[in-house]
Amino acid sequence: MIDLKGKIAVVTGGGMGIGAGISKVLAGYGATIAIADIDPGAAQPTADAINASGGKARVYRHDVTNWDSAFALVEAVESELGPIDILVNNAGVSRRVPLLEMSEREWDRVLDINLKGQFITTRAVMPGMAARNRGRVVNMASVVSKQGVGNFSHYCTSKFGVIGFTQSIANEYAQTNITVNAVCPGILMTPLHDGIVDQMAAAANVDHDTAKKNFVGLVPQGHPQTPEDVGHMIAFLASDLAQNVTGQSYHIDGGMQMD
Ligand SMILES: NC(=O)c1ccc[n+]([C@@H]2O[C@H](COP(=O)([O-])OP(=O)(O)OC[C@H]3O[C@@H](n4cnc5c(N)ncnc54)[C@H](O)[C@@H]3O)[C@@H](O)[C@H]2O)c1
Repeated sequence: MIDLKGKIAVVTGGGMGIGAGISKVLAGYGATIAIADIDPGAAQPTADAINASGGKARVYRHDVTNWDSAFALVEAVESELGPIDILVNNAGVSRRVPLLEMSEREWDRVLDINLKGQFITTRAVMPGMAARNRGRVVNMASVVSKQGVGNFSHYCTSKFGVIGFTQSIANEYAQTNITVNAVCPGILMTPLHDGIVDQMAAAANVDHDTAKKNFVGLVPQGHPQTPEDVGHMIAFLASDLAQNVTGQSYHIDGGMQMD
Protein backbone atom coordinates (compact mmCIF):
# COMPACT_ATOMS: atom_id res chain seq x y z
CA MET A 1 0.00 0.00 0.00
CA ILE A 2 1.22 3.46 -0.83
CA ASP A 3 1.36 5.47 2.39
CA LEU A 4 2.59 9.08 2.47
CA LYS A 5 1.26 9.97 5.92
CA GLY A 6 3.54 12.41 7.72
CA LYS A 7 5.45 13.30 4.54
CA ILE A 8 5.85 16.87 3.35
CA ALA A 9 5.67 17.28 -0.44
CA VAL A 10 6.50 20.36 -2.50
CA VAL A 11 4.76 20.42 -5.89
CA THR A 12 5.95 23.19 -8.22
CA GLY A 13 3.27 24.46 -10.55
CA GLY A 14 0.87 22.61 -8.29
CA GLY A 15 -1.97 25.06 -8.67
CA MET A 16 -3.38 24.01 -12.02
CA GLY A 17 -3.53 21.21 -14.54
CA ILE A 18 -1.36 18.18 -13.87
CA GLY A 19 0.19 19.78 -10.78
CA ALA A 20 -3.22 20.19 -9.19
CA GLY A 21 -3.97 16.51 -9.86
CA ILE A 22 -0.61 15.49 -8.39
CA SER A 23 -1.22 17.64 -5.29
CA LYS A 24 -4.66 16.13 -4.72
CA VAL A 25 -3.49 12.53 -5.21
CA LEU A 26 -0.44 12.91 -2.93
CA ALA A 27 -2.69 14.53 -0.30
CA GLY A 28 -5.08 11.61 -0.67
CA TYR A 29 -2.22 9.26 0.25
CA GLY A 30 -1.62 11.35 3.38
CA ALA A 31 1.10 13.84 2.42
CA THR A 32 0.97 17.50 3.43
CA ILE A 33 1.30 19.56 0.27
CA ALA A 34 3.18 22.80 -0.31
CA ILE A 35 1.81 24.06 -3.59
CA ALA A 36 4.65 26.18 -4.99
CA ASP A 37 3.27 28.22 -7.86
CA ILE A 38 4.03 31.50 -9.59
CA ASP A 39 0.30 32.29 -9.48
CA PRO A 40 -0.81 31.80 -5.85
CA GLY A 41 -4.28 33.22 -6.49
CA ALA A 42 -5.03 30.62 -9.16
CA ALA A 43 -3.49 27.90 -6.99
CA GLN A 44 -5.55 28.63 -3.87
CA PRO A 45 -8.69 26.69 -4.99
CA THR A 46 -6.56 23.53 -5.26
CA ALA A 47 -5.34 23.99 -1.67
CA ASP A 48 -8.90 24.78 -0.55
CA ALA A 49 -10.21 21.59 -2.19
CA ILE A 50 -7.53 19.48 -0.47
CA ASN A 51 -8.18 21.09 2.93
CA ALA A 52 -11.96 20.73 2.50
CA SER A 53 -11.62 17.01 1.85
CA GLY A 54 -9.63 16.37 5.03
CA GLY A 55 -6.11 16.78 3.64
CA LYS A 56 -3.56 19.47 4.33
CA ALA A 57 -2.20 21.94 1.78
CA ARG A 58 -0.79 25.43 1.71
CA VAL A 59 0.10 27.71 -1.20
CA TYR A 60 3.53 29.32 -1.52
CA ARG A 61 4.48 31.85 -4.18
CA HIS A 62 7.46 30.45 -6.08
CA ASP A 63 9.01 31.26 -9.43
CA VAL A 64 11.08 28.21 -10.42
CA THR A 65 13.41 30.37 -12.51
CA ASN A 66 14.47 32.42 -9.50
CA TRP A 67 17.27 31.22 -7.21
CA ASP A 68 16.27 33.38 -4.22
CA SER A 69 12.65 32.32 -4.56
CA ALA A 70 13.70 28.66 -4.28
CA PHE A 71 15.74 29.14 -1.10
CA ALA A 72 13.02 31.31 0.44
CA LEU A 73 10.48 28.59 -0.40
CA VAL A 74 12.50 25.89 1.34
CA GLU A 75 12.98 28.06 4.42
CA ALA A 76 9.27 28.90 4.61
CA VAL A 77 8.03 25.34 4.02
CA GLU A 78 10.48 23.76 6.45
CA SER A 79 9.70 26.24 9.22
CA GLU A 80 5.92 26.15 8.71
CA LEU A 81 5.25 22.55 7.65
CA GLY A 82 8.42 20.57 8.39
CA PRO A 83 11.34 18.95 6.54
CA ILE A 84 10.67 18.39 2.85
CA ASP A 85 10.47 14.67 2.03
CA ILE A 86 9.21 14.87 -1.55
CA LEU A 87 9.92 17.36 -4.33
CA VAL A 88 7.86 17.20 -7.52
CA ASN A 89 9.41 19.46 -10.17
CA ASN A 90 6.24 19.83 -12.22
CA ALA A 91 6.07 23.48 -13.36
CA GLY A 92 6.39 23.84 -17.10
CA VAL A 93 5.22 25.76 -20.15
CA SER A 94 4.85 25.04 -23.85
CA ARG A 95 3.82 26.73 -27.06
CA ARG A 96 3.89 25.63 -30.68
CA VAL A 97 6.67 27.65 -32.35
CA PRO A 98 8.22 26.69 -35.72
CA LEU A 99 12.01 27.08 -35.75
CA LEU A 100 11.98 30.08 -38.09
CA GLU A 101 9.56 31.91 -35.80
CA MET A 102 11.51 31.06 -32.64
CA SER A 103 13.05 34.06 -30.89
CA GLU A 104 15.96 33.78 -28.50
CA ARG A 105 13.65 35.09 -25.79
CA GLU A 106 11.03 32.37 -26.35
CA TRP A 107 13.73 29.66 -26.43
CA ASP A 108 15.21 30.92 -23.14
CA ARG A 109 11.78 31.26 -21.50
CA VAL A 110 10.91 27.62 -22.09
CA LEU A 111 14.37 26.27 -21.22
CA ASP A 112 14.50 28.44 -18.08
CA ILE A 113 11.15 27.32 -16.68
CA ASN A 114 11.17 23.68 -17.80
CA LEU A 115 14.80 22.74 -17.22
CA LYS A 116 16.73 25.34 -15.25
CA GLY A 117 13.71 25.65 -12.95
CA GLN A 118 14.08 21.99 -11.98
CA PHE A 119 17.78 22.50 -11.26
CA ILE A 120 17.16 25.61 -9.14
CA THR A 121 14.38 24.12 -6.99
CA THR A 122 16.27 20.84 -6.57
CA ARG A 123 19.43 22.77 -5.68
CA ALA A 124 17.54 24.51 -2.87
CA VAL A 125 15.75 21.42 -1.52
CA MET A 126 18.66 18.96 -1.72
CA PRO A 127 20.85 20.25 1.16
CA GLY A 128 18.09 19.36 3.64
CA MET A 129 17.40 15.98 2.04
CA ALA A 130 21.13 15.19 2.00
CA ALA A 131 21.54 16.18 5.67
CA ARG A 132 18.61 13.92 6.59
CA ASN A 133 19.78 11.17 4.18
CA ARG A 134 16.19 10.84 3.01
CA GLY A 135 14.19 12.15 0.08
CA ARG A 136 12.32 11.68 -3.14
CA VAL A 137 12.59 13.87 -6.21
CA VAL A 138 10.27 13.34 -9.17
CA ASN A 139 10.82 15.44 -12.29
CA MET A 140 8.20 16.19 -14.91
CA ALA A 141 9.40 15.07 -18.33
CA SER A 142 7.13 14.21 -21.26
CA VAL A 143 6.41 11.74 -24.01
CA VAL A 144 8.59 14.08 -26.11
CA SER A 145 11.56 13.55 -23.77
CA LYS A 146 12.84 10.74 -25.96
CA GLN A 147 11.39 11.53 -29.41
CA GLY A 148 11.44 15.07 -30.75
CA VAL A 149 8.48 16.54 -32.66
CA GLY A 150 8.42 19.42 -35.12
CA ASN A 151 7.43 22.95 -34.03
CA PHE A 152 8.30 22.25 -30.40
CA SER A 153 12.12 22.28 -30.54
CA HIS A 154 12.50 24.38 -27.38
CA TYR A 155 10.02 22.25 -25.44
CA CYS A 156 11.47 18.91 -26.61
CA THR A 157 15.00 20.09 -25.86
CA SER A 158 13.98 21.10 -22.33
CA LYS A 159 12.31 17.74 -21.73
CA PHE A 160 15.24 15.72 -23.13
CA GLY A 161 17.32 17.76 -20.67
CA VAL A 162 15.05 16.74 -17.80
CA ILE A 163 15.96 13.09 -18.42
CA GLY A 164 19.68 13.93 -18.38
CA PHE A 165 19.30 15.96 -15.19
CA THR A 166 17.28 13.17 -13.56
CA GLN A 167 19.79 10.44 -14.40
CA SER A 168 22.74 12.58 -13.36
CA ILE A 169 21.36 13.55 -9.96
CA ALA A 170 20.07 10.00 -9.37
CA ASN A 171 23.58 8.71 -9.95
CA GLU A 172 25.12 11.40 -7.75
CA TYR A 173 22.86 10.45 -4.82
CA ALA A 174 22.64 6.70 -5.46
CA GLN A 175 24.63 5.89 -2.30
CA THR A 176 22.04 7.71 -0.17
CA ASN A 177 18.37 7.15 0.62
CA ILE A 178 17.43 9.81 -1.92
CA THR A 179 15.91 8.70 -5.22
CA VAL A 180 15.41 10.80 -8.33
CA ASN A 181 13.05 9.74 -11.11
CA ALA A 182 11.03 11.26 -13.93
CA VAL A 183 7.54 10.81 -15.33
CA CYS A 184 6.63 11.18 -19.00
CA PRO A 185 2.96 12.01 -19.58
CA GLY A 186 1.47 11.93 -23.06
CA ILE A 187 -1.59 14.08 -23.76
CA LEU A 188 -3.67 15.65 -20.99
CA MET A 189 -6.32 18.27 -21.53
CA THR A 190 -4.92 20.91 -19.18
CA PRO A 191 -4.84 24.70 -19.68
CA LEU A 192 -1.37 24.21 -21.23
CA HIS A 193 -2.70 21.81 -23.82
CA ASP A 194 -5.84 23.82 -24.56
CA GLY A 195 -3.57 26.62 -25.77
CA ILE A 196 -1.57 24.25 -27.96
CA VAL A 197 -4.73 22.77 -29.49
CA ASP A 198 -5.82 26.31 -30.40
CA GLN A 199 -2.48 26.89 -32.13
CA MET A 200 -2.73 23.53 -33.96
CA ALA A 201 -6.27 24.35 -35.09
CA ALA A 202 -5.08 27.67 -36.53
CA ALA A 203 -2.06 26.06 -38.24
CA ALA A 204 -4.20 23.31 -39.85
CA ASN A 205 -7.12 25.65 -40.53
CA VAL A 206 -9.59 23.43 -38.66
CA ASP A 207 -11.84 24.09 -35.66
CA HIS A 208 -10.75 23.46 -32.06
CA ASP A 209 -12.73 20.21 -31.68
CA THR A 210 -11.27 18.73 -34.87
CA ALA A 211 -7.73 19.64 -33.82
CA LYS A 212 -8.36 18.11 -30.38
CA LYS A 213 -9.73 14.90 -31.94
CA ASN A 214 -6.72 14.63 -34.26
CA PHE A 215 -4.37 15.20 -31.35
CA VAL A 216 -5.97 12.61 -29.09
CA GLY A 217 -5.94 10.25 -32.09
CA LEU A 218 -2.17 10.01 -31.56
CA VAL A 219 -2.81 8.00 -28.36
CA PRO A 220 -3.03 4.24 -29.06
CA GLN A 221 -5.51 3.83 -26.20
CA GLY A 222 -7.67 6.43 -27.92
CA HIS A 223 -8.19 8.77 -24.98
CA PRO A 224 -6.11 11.34 -23.07
CA GLN A 225 -4.54 10.69 -19.70
CA THR A 226 -5.63 12.49 -16.54
CA PRO A 227 -3.65 14.48 -13.97
CA GLU A 228 -4.61 11.83 -11.43
CA ASP A 229 -2.98 9.09 -13.57
CA VAL A 230 0.27 11.01 -13.28
CA GLY A 231 -0.31 11.62 -9.56
CA HIS A 232 -0.62 7.91 -8.77
CA MET A 233 2.65 7.11 -10.55
CA ILE A 234 4.38 9.90 -8.64
CA ALA A 235 2.86 8.71 -5.36
CA PHE A 236 4.40 5.27 -5.97
CA LEU A 237 7.81 6.77 -6.81
CA ALA A 238 7.58 8.98 -3.70
CA SER A 239 6.71 6.07 -1.42
CA ASP A 240 8.86 3.60 0.49
CA LEU A 241 7.74 0.95 -2.01
CA ALA A 242 10.02 2.52 -4.62
CA GLN A 243 13.15 2.67 -2.44
CA ASN A 244 15.24 0.80 -5.03
CA VAL A 245 13.97 2.70 -8.07
CA THR A 246 16.16 5.61 -9.16
CA GLY A 247 17.24 7.29 -12.39
CA GLN A 248 14.17 6.00 -14.24
CA SER A 249 11.57 7.70 -16.42
CA TYR A 250 8.09 6.25 -16.61
CA HIS A 251 5.61 6.87 -19.41
CA ILE A 252 1.98 7.56 -18.59
CA ASP A 253 0.88 8.04 -22.18
CA GLY A 254 -1.63 5.42 -23.24
CA GLY A 255 1.05 3.59 -25.26
CA MET A 256 2.37 6.53 -27.29
CA GLN A 257 6.00 5.70 -26.55
CA MET A 258 6.88 2.08 -25.93
CA ASP A 259 10.45 1.47 -24.71
N1 LIG B 1 -0.57 18.73 -20.54
C1 LIG B 1 0.10 17.78 -21.13
O1 LIG B 1 -0.41 17.09 -22.02
C2 LIG B 1 1.51 17.47 -20.71
C3 LIG B 1 2.14 16.34 -21.27
C4 LIG B 1 3.43 16.02 -20.87
C5 LIG B 1 4.09 16.79 -19.93
N2 LIG B 1 3.46 17.89 -19.42
C6 LIG B 1 4.19 18.67 -18.41
O2 LIG B 1 3.46 18.69 -17.19
C7 LIG B 1 3.75 19.89 -16.47
C8 LIG B 1 2.45 20.60 -16.12
O3 LIG B 1 1.77 20.90 -17.32
P1 LIG B 1 0.24 21.32 -17.34
O4 LIG B 1 -0.33 20.81 -18.61
O5 LIG B 1 -0.41 20.98 -16.06
O6 LIG B 1 0.41 22.91 -17.46
P2 LIG B 1 -0.58 24.08 -16.94
O7 LIG B 1 -0.26 25.28 -17.76
O8 LIG B 1 -1.97 23.59 -16.90
O9 LIG B 1 -0.07 24.34 -15.44
C9 LIG B 1 1.24 24.78 -15.22
C10 LIG B 1 1.38 25.30 -13.80
O10 LIG B 1 2.73 25.76 -13.64
C11 LIG B 1 2.71 27.07 -13.07
N3 LIG B 1 3.92 27.80 -13.49
C12 LIG B 1 4.20 28.29 -14.72
N4 LIG B 1 5.38 28.94 -14.70
C13 LIG B 1 5.86 28.82 -13.44
C14 LIG B 1 7.04 29.28 -12.79
N5 LIG B 1 7.97 30.01 -13.43
N6 LIG B 1 7.22 28.97 -11.48
C15 LIG B 1 6.28 28.25 -10.80
N7 LIG B 1 5.14 27.82 -11.35
C16 LIG B 1 4.93 28.10 -12.66
C17 LIG B 1 1.41 27.69 -13.56
O11 LIG B 1 1.01 28.79 -12.77
C18 LIG B 1 0.46 26.50 -13.50
O12 LIG B 1 -0.10 26.35 -12.21
C19 LIG B 1 4.67 20.72 -17.38
O13 LIG B 1 6.03 20.50 -16.99
C20 LIG B 1 4.41 20.13 -18.77
O14 LIG B 1 5.51 20.30 -19.62
C21 LIG B 1 2.19 18.25 -19.78
